[in-house]
Amino acid sequence: MSLQIGDIAPDFTAVTTAGTINFHEWLGSGWGVLFSHPKDFTPVCTTELGYTEKLRPQFEQRGVKVIGLSVDALGDHERWADDIEATQGARPRFPIIADADRKVAHLYGMLHPKADTTFTVRSVFIIDPDKKIRATITYPASTGRNFDEILRVIDSLQLTDNHKVATPVNWTPGQDVIIVPSLGAEEARALFPDGWVEHRPYLRTVKQPS
Ligand code: BEZ
Repeated sequence: MSLQIGDIAPDFTAVTTAGTINFHEWLGSGWGVLFSHPKDFTPVCTTELGYTEKLRPQFEQRGVKVIGLSVDALGDHERWADDIEATQGARPRFPIIADADRKVAHLYGMLHPKADTTFTVRSVFIIDPDKKIRATITYPASTGRNFDEILRVIDSLQLTDNHKVATPVNWTPGQDVIIVPSLGAEEARALFPDGWVEHRPYLRTVKQPS
């Protein structure tokens, strides 16, 4: 069965562009994003990796480590980084797993044989400090992901953990949020002393906590 939200992210040891890492040790006590791309030296992946590097400060601000994966060898990753730097203006400094034996790809269900028998699809796993998978995203090889959306999901998850709020449709940071339905009125008054707008008893909105 495929990995699901709430599962512990499987641990592994792998060769990466930042040396051999043990995944759980490398994650430490923070958040992580593990994402696969189908193949080195392909156009969509080149744009994704350059953009992810440009977003690295944003991930760091949120306490999130990012790690990529493709089923190519380390030497390819390193040569490809030159191209990414030349064409995208950013050289990936986050680790990229060299998963030539597809060990990690199999462990995480990144190979979807009906789509492609050899290369991974575009998988994303957002992992919390307890090593729990909190979100998964899967895109086909031909569609570049929206890494700003990945940051948005992380913002939403961290708001839920820290402030007991959920985020509504198309929410972007700074907009009003929703008090989680499981929070009773008394607890809500303690957490949101300035009050909230009660559209329905189950739909209570409040300014985004900072
Ligand atoms: C790409 O990364 O550009 C790509 C990979 C596989 C199929 C189509 C595009």
